[in-house]
Amino acid sequence: MTSFASRPIKHDSAPKHVAGAARYIDDLPEPEGLLHAALHLSERTHARIRKIDLSKALCLPGVRAAITVADVPGDPDIAPVVRPEPVLAKDVVEFHGQPVAAIAADDLATARRAARLVEVEYEDLPAVLDIAEAVEKDILLLPPIKLQRGDAGAAIARAPHKLSGELRLGGQDHFYLEGQVSLAEPREDGDMMLRCSTQHPTEVQKLVARVLGKPQHSVTVECRRMGGGFGGKETQAAQFACIAAVLAQRTRRPVKLRLDRDEDMIATGKRHDFLARYNVGFDDDGRILGNDLLLAGRGGWAADLTGAVVDRAAFHADSSYYFPAVSITGLSCKTNTVSNTAFRGFGGPQGMAATEYVIDEIARYLGRDPLDIRLINLYGKTERNITPYHQPIKDNILPELFEQLLASSDYRQRRNEIAAFNAQSRHLKKGLALTPVKFGISFTTSFLNQAGALVLIYEDGSVQLNHGGTEMGQGVYIKVAQVVAEVFGIGLERIRITATRTDKVPNTSATAASSGADLNGKAAEEAALILRRRLADIAAPLLDTSADQVVFADGEVRGGGRALPFAEVVHQAYLARVPLSANGFYATPDIHFDRANGRGEPFYYFAYGVAATEALLDCFTGEYRFTRADLLHDCGQSLNPAIDLGQIEGGYLQGLGWLTMEELWWDDKGRLRTHAPSTYKIPTARDLPADFRVQMLAGHPNPANTVYRSKAVGEPPLMLAISGWLALKDAACAAAGGRRVRLDAPATPERVLLAIEAAKRQAARPANAVAAK
Ligand code: MTE
Ligand code: HPA
Ligand code: MOS
Repeated sequence: MTSFASRPIKHDSAPKHVAGAARYIDDLPEPEGLLHAALHLSERTHARIRKIDLSKALCLPGVRAAITVADVPGDPDIAPVVRPEPVLAKDVVEFHGQPVAAIAADDLATARRAARLVEVEYEDLPAVLDIAEAVEKDILLLPPIKLQRGDAGAAIARAPHKLSGELRLGGQDHFYLEGQVSLAEPREDGDMMLRCSTQHPTEVQKLVARVLGKPQHSVTVECRRMGGGFGGKETQAAQFACIAAVLAQRTRRPVKLRLDRDEDMIATGKRHDFLARYNVGFDDDGRILGNDLLLAGRGGWAADLTGAVVDRAAFHADSSYYFPAVSITGLSCKTNTVSNTAFRGFGGPQGMAATEYVIDEIARYLGRDPLDIRLINLYGKTERNITPYHQPIKDNILPELFEQLLASSDYRQRRNEIAAFNAQSRHLKKGLALTPVKFGISFTTSFLNQAGALVLIYEDGSVQLNHGGTEMGQGVYIKVAQVVAEVFGIGLERIRITATRTDKVPNTSATAASSGADLNGKAAEEAALILRRRLADIAAPLLDTSADQVVFADGEVRGGGRALPFAEVVHQAYLARVPLSANGFYATPDIHFDRANGRGEPFYYFAYGVAATEALLDCFTGEYRFTRADLLHDCGQSLNPAIDLGQIEGGYLQGLGWLTMEELWWDDKGRLRTHAPSTYKIPTARDLPADFRVQMLAGHPNPANTVYRSKAVGEPPLMLAISGWLALKDAACAAAGGRRVRLDAPATPERVLLAIEAAKRQAARPANAVAAK
């Protein structure tokens, strides 16, 4: 029997990726009369705009248009959630690098030269650059979120032991290989066609319509694929699409806007860096009794998705642990820096990392293996299983995951070997950490959990598949195609995967929250099932059987002991005047969240994982290597194990990059100084642990009714990398003679070295005076 669901099928574009034949926006043949756009970016951090002079730019030969926000014909506000968020700076600039003006010219070099000729007169205003300052002054973009159960303060006060402290977790640039790019083309009747590298074609359509002052029906957005998105194109592609569209409308010519790497890094938002403050009470065994946590995220100058990111950070600050009394507060801080946005994990990694760090601190304080503190606090299956947002965890498989990885990684034995190694090695120290992942699946903004699909069968039995999911390398196209192939029982070669277009499926959500395959897979399945029922009705009399006895498999339609080719049944359906296209729709059931009260069931289910990473640290230089990692990840019944393996490996490595080597550095004027690969280091394949063992959990189909019982996998494995960071902390503690070290992220070699030195200096003071306060 054919079975396409659950098979390790290669990415549909893999041959094109390796041959360089997969086309990205900048590879498309350029339309006649194409103009190239460039941006003028703010050179101040926070300033009132007194005057913008475009005259010199406009005088340059080849320049066809120069615009500021005043030239936007419609509503210039492109805020996805909360205003204001002007498409080009309006009255004030709020960060160094904010787009202020845009140029369209015959060629790119001229456009960029003209952009530099734009003259802006500023009047400087005071700037807030640090999260702590925003917290102190209560400068917030949105109201805080609070998750609460019991009286955390009282529980901590009563607890035999207490720890408090703070921690910083850095941001991260998306570093998608294809930067932000849009190509806008005016069409008949004032319509606008956009080809855009975006995770959210519908929102680009909506916002382009808004800035042009047109109805949504006159704007079409197409995205065949992105060269990576990682959350950076969930909202932030729209700004550049809108600027290209305004220039195209003004010049009545096609306009392409492609940011270069530096501009992309300076002008687009990143992962939110966080300041975490903790106050935790626990017993002699390390069982947490009360936990009070503050998570302050850097939103930057505008809200963008910060509210939802900080919410997700708060939702994941339980990590995998039960807190009997808990108070978690999430703050969306406003600063005069770029507006931060979605990034793989969407706040979840920051919330989880903070708590895993606290667990590690508890272990150091008690002189225990952090693993034992994790195990004693782990969520139960039927009790101790209520989250701080009051959602019971019904599908907890963490105990099985721990048990399996403990055995396969030889954790306990290696822990002893490492202790022995560290006792005899003076300048090289090893560290080991084993951490869990529990990641809530669903957009926490409940209404976003919907998807549509449009499936067409042509008379020859070939199928065209459309849905709202966008392809950024993660394999959502092949996964959804597998689902349709499975329903029709036909080969994948009969299914044409199409570019995502707003004129095929309307009102789609972003491909985000790891739910692309979950949502679009279900919608496409429904469309295919509608068509299959129609075909079964046609086939039944031909096969001399009843429609419910008809089976679709191996390219055939079978029943009554006979078989017809799929294409023949399609042809008969056509002759019988049966419609051969259908829409499918899916809305995730049973989810809701009341933000004001911090209560609800925001997640349809959880995806789990566990990882053990070993690090080797050079105490002279602070440099390190990850020598071994054992990953065990839960994909439910994987829709495509080949794709999912890539997601696990890639997610883990991207997480390691975030927590260890990728450092964003702004100077005291708020200028990003790490805006190119020369100064911003992302991991490569060579940074993978030398001994890398990745397994998918077997035999655990998703108990929730997802598509073929699979689980979302795009984001959760990123958080397996927390084990790498804490392995470094373990090694750093060994280097500091077993003392507690404060190791913020990213744990660059420099920071590791400074952390060890600081711990040694503190050793001059009695250890418990520090610990107990
Ligand atoms: N994998 C690749 N290769 N490229 C990407 O840009 N984005 C990640 C993840 N995996 C990404 C990726 C993010 S942030 C999300 S939310 C999911 O893929 C989105 O796709 P899915 O919902 O179809 O898994
Ligand atoms: N995840 C990713 N993107 C989102 C979410 C979320 O929970 N909510 C809104 N956009
Ligand atoms: Mo992913 S951060 O939800 O695009």
